[in-house]
Order: sequence, then structure tokens, then C-alpha cells
Amino acid sequence: MPASAPIRQDVARSASRSTGIGILGATGYAGVELVRLLSAHPGARVLALGSRQDAGAPFSRVWPSLPAVQRVLEDETTAPEAWAERGVEILFSALPHGALADRAGAWLGTGIRVVDLSADHRPGRAEREKGSGRPAVYGLTEWCGTDLDRATLVANPGCYATAILLALLPAARSGWIRSEPIIVNALSGVSGAGRAATLTTHFVERIGSAAPYRVGEEHAHLAEIAATLGHVAGTTPAVIMNPHLVPMARGILATLAVPLARRLELEEVRAVYSACYADAPFVRLLDEATLPETRWVCGSNRCDLALRLAGGGHLLLVFAALDNLMKGAAGQAVQNFNRMMGLPETTGLPLTGWSSG
Ligand SMILES: NC(=O)c1ccc[n+]([C@@H]2O[C@H](COP(=O)([O-])OP(=O)(O)OC[C@H]3O[C@@H](n4cnc5c(N)ncnc54)[C@H](OP(=O)(O)O)[C@@H]3O)[C@@H](O)[C@H]2O)c1
Repeated sequence: MPASAPIRQDVARSASRSTGIGILGATGYAGVELVRLLSAHPGARVLALGSRQDAGAPFSRVWPSLPAVQRVLEDETTAPEAWAERGVEILFSALPHGALADRAGAWLGTGIRVVDLSADHRPGRAEREKGSGRPAVYGLTEWCGTDLDRATLVANPGCYATAILLALLPAARSGWIRSEPIIVNALSGVSGAGRAATLTTHFVERIGSAAPYRVGEEHAHLAEIAATLGHVAGTTPAVIMNPHLVPMARGILATLAVPLARRLELEEVRAVYSACYADAPFVRLLDEATLPETRWVCGSNRCDLALRLAGGGHLLLVFAALDNLMKGAAGQAVQNFNRMMGLPETTGLPLTGWSSG
């Protein structure tokens, strides 16, 4: 990633042909969003869908919300060569962490380019847990410059990391941040934990109750946040992150308190953020009277940002909202795919969400 302003490729190569797509983990929450987006994408042909438990069933029987997707699900254990021969050129992996790491080489060896939604190829991962060790482009799309053009392996960022980095990078790159820790309080919908119910995610445990978890310096996304701040902004301020699981199906809301090295005026802060994201179609800076809500972004690929100052102009507050399954996962993966294929960044991606209430 270059330490320059976000670059958008509006001068796109033509979408004269569609790209063959395979999706692993197609029946999971992120996988279903990939199927939904890519089935309707004008530059994509979905050729293969992977699932172990539902192999042999038509996708639409497992997810009746997508009746037009009749393709039969396959167990992908021996699939790389077979899928390559059938025309798969890009593989989206929506498998859990660790499930692709050992097999990534087999897929890449066929010439298929891989977009991995898990943490296995994200920066900083190897320092905390076992990743595949393969070099990948970190796909925080707005900050990738031209790195995605020829990427063979893309590490799609985590949902919290996407919200926090989009909120923080303009300030970090401007050299505004003082050495005290940045405090991030963040809320997540329960789909962020995947489809399998656990004691902390099942209905009775979550309905009507919010709970902090992995607070302070425990959350795994801190590694990719630190690595990206260092790479893009040349600074690695301490970040304290307090995530909370809240009783909603989807959405991330992150509130960042950023100690500033000097007193700032809101006008100056807004000017820097506006300039930074002027060519970023999916990052919206809200007006001064508005704070973001998750319901405004759910179903869209947007990240909404709002800015405030406190402490007499010495503390910057940044608010970020996104849909964890869209800009936080499948939507950003498709945005990266568009850039990899030289398509307009917005192809097949919704700017507007579903809900008004
Ligand atoms: N949910 C989010 O908000 C979010 C955001 C950003 C990134 N991600 C990442 O995206 C990936 C998918 O997340 P998700 O929330 O969609 O997960 P999920 O709902 O649990 O789905 C995982 C899918 O992977 C398949 N699978 C294949 N091998 C597996 C294995 N060894 N263990 C368990 N499942 C296996 C499962 O289907 P079969 O059992 O039928 O094979 C299932 O369809 C994860 O790496 C996650 O960290 C998720």
C-alpha cells in the first residue's frame, strides 16, 4: 500500500467479458452475501459454490432468499484443479480462520486468484496466530492504490478493522495523533460471529443484553490495525479497543477518541477527511449535524463517518458505521474484485441500504 491518498480507478477497462467465480463457505453469512452480490454482478459468472454439510443440495434450497441460484453445492476438498478447468478464475474464500491457510497454495497453483475473507493472510496475523505466511495485498480498498490490479492473493480486512482504519487513517497520516492511546468503543451485531450458535451468541443469551468482550488489547483485529497504520501512515499509536456484542443481527458502530498533538478546528478536520475520501464512493462523511447509525448502512457497501472535537479541540471523536457483512466482508471483497478486474469500483455494489426504520 502506498502512503498516498486513496486512488479510485474510474478509468476502467471494459467489462466486455465476465469472470468465472468460485465461492468457498458459500452457505455461511459472508458466503451468502457473496452469492447474492456476485449472482447479480454484470462482470461475474458464478460457476462453483462450496459447502461440506449441504453438498449435493441446490443453493436455493439451503437459502430460499435467493430462489434464482439453482447451482448445486459441492464439497470442495478436491476442487482446485476441477474448478480451474471449469473456468473459475477468482476464488472467494468465506471459510473460518485456519480453514484455507494450508490449502491456499493448491488454489493459487492452478492460476486462480484468491480473495480470502478470513484472517489467515492479513498483516500482523503471524505474530499472534498461525497464518499461511503467504504475501497478500491487504484489501482495505480505499487505501490500496494500484496494489490490487495484479494481486493474486488478497486478504480482505476484518469488519472492525475496516471501520476503525477508515476512521483513523486520515488523522494518522496528517500527523495529528499524540502518543496517548486511542480509545475505541465498538458495537457489533451477532452475525459477526458467524452462523453457528454458541453460548454467547444464541437468541436467549443476546436478546435484550449487550456485553463487552476481548477488551483492551485482546482483540485479534488490533494486529492488522497496527500493521496498516504503520504501513500507510508511518505511525503505530497505541490503540485500546473495547468491542461489545449487541442484540442486532448485523452492523458495526465504532466510536474513536483520538488524543491530538495540537488543538484543531472542526473545519480543518473535515477538510482533510473530505479531501481524503473525495474519490471514495463508499465512504460518506456525514454533515455536522448527523451521527451515523447502523440501520442506515445495512445492506449497503457504505461506511458512514462523522467527526466531532472535544477537550477544547485536543480530542478528536470519529464515529464509523458499516454493515459487517457488506463493507466489513462480502461487499468489500467484491469492491476488491472490481479493482482486480479493472472494473468501476461500484459495479454490482449497492450504495443505499435496506432500512429506513
Ligand atoms: N461474519 C462477519 O461479519 C465477517 C466479517 C468479516 C470477515 N468474516 C470472515 O469471513 C469468514 C466467514 O465468516 P462467516 O461469518 O460467514 O462464517 P460462518 O457463517 O460460520 O460460515 C462459514 C462457512 O464455512 C464452511 N466451512 C468450511 N470448512 C469449515 C470448517 N473447517 N469449519 C467450519 N465451517 C467450515 C461452512 O459450511 P460447511 O460446514 O457446510 O462447509 C460455512 O458455510 C470467516 O473467516 C470470518 O472471519 C466474517
